[in-house]
Amino acid sequence: MNSSYQEKIKKASQLIKNSTYAVAFTGAGISTESGIPDFRSPGGLWQRFRIVTYQEFIYDRQAREEFWRMKKELIHQLINAKPNNAHIALAELEKLGIIKHVITQNIDGLHQMAGSNSVIELHGNQRGAICLDCEKLYEMDEVLQMLAEQELDLRCYDCGGIIKPTVVFFGEPMPEKELIMAQQIANQCDLMLVIGTSLQVEPAASIPRIAHKRGAKLIFINKAETDWDWIAEIVFYGSAGQVLKDILSETKNAT
Ligand code: APR
Repeated sequence: MNSSYQEKIKKASQLIKNSTYAVAFTGAGISTESGIPDFRSPGGLWQRFRIVTYQEFIYDRQAREEFWRMKKELIHQLINAKPNNAHIALAELEKLGIIKHVITQNIDGLHQMAGSNSVIELHGNQRGAICLDCEKLYEMDEVLQMLAEQELDLRCYDCGGIIKPTVVFFGEPMPEKELIMAQQIANQCDLMLVIGTSLQVEPAASIPRIAHKRGAKLIFINKAETDWDWIAEIVFYGSAGQVLKDILSETKNAT
């Protein structure tokens, strides 16, 4: 590893050790090393599939079928994925009492699987689905069964209502409790690790900006540039797994 990289790792670890309220903000890029493609990189999901909005999903049967066709193609990749070094490093930093919370845009549940206890999911999760009429909740296993048994317009076993996964669609209102928690944390933290996100989707992308406005120090870890790299104290253009592994070992060695 070249010296400037090592120097940046040392500096990042110093900032983390000096912090009193450090948190992480993550996006799809933290899970690509677990085999889950992100959305906007070359070959990303939005280059392969069309975005079905919330309104389309509610009112248009063909759009629902298109959505479930995509889900059927991707679902096993999602549910068989395992946490990688990046998720594991954040969970370890939490155990060391350094990272207080992980605010994530991801629905894959890999932070929790890695052992992170305080995870705020801004865009829902893939743990199941809900009937939009009777609000009956279905576990992922039941959704898989529906996908195997039913036409691609999944319907509630009880009332025949439309089944929607518990993820947040474009055009759907954000989960209020999670958004307010994330904003409160961004207002209080003194350090934020921003990992694997293009920061193009609002209001999630405003969370690091709130932290910056409040004087928190930001460390960006991302393969590609974002429009907000200028607000960061340190920017790593590289693999989240490698960089967080190096930051963790540097932090551990120094404590
Ligand atoms: N390590 C570090 N960065 C990575 C890695 C990696 N292994 N793999 C990809 N990246 C970077 C990419 O360069 C890209 O800038 O992660 C970023 C992922 O950006 P997006 O694909 O735009 O994902 P994200 O920012 O999480 O998208 C936000 O958009 O589509 C919606 O609801 C979806 O939550 C998602 C939201």
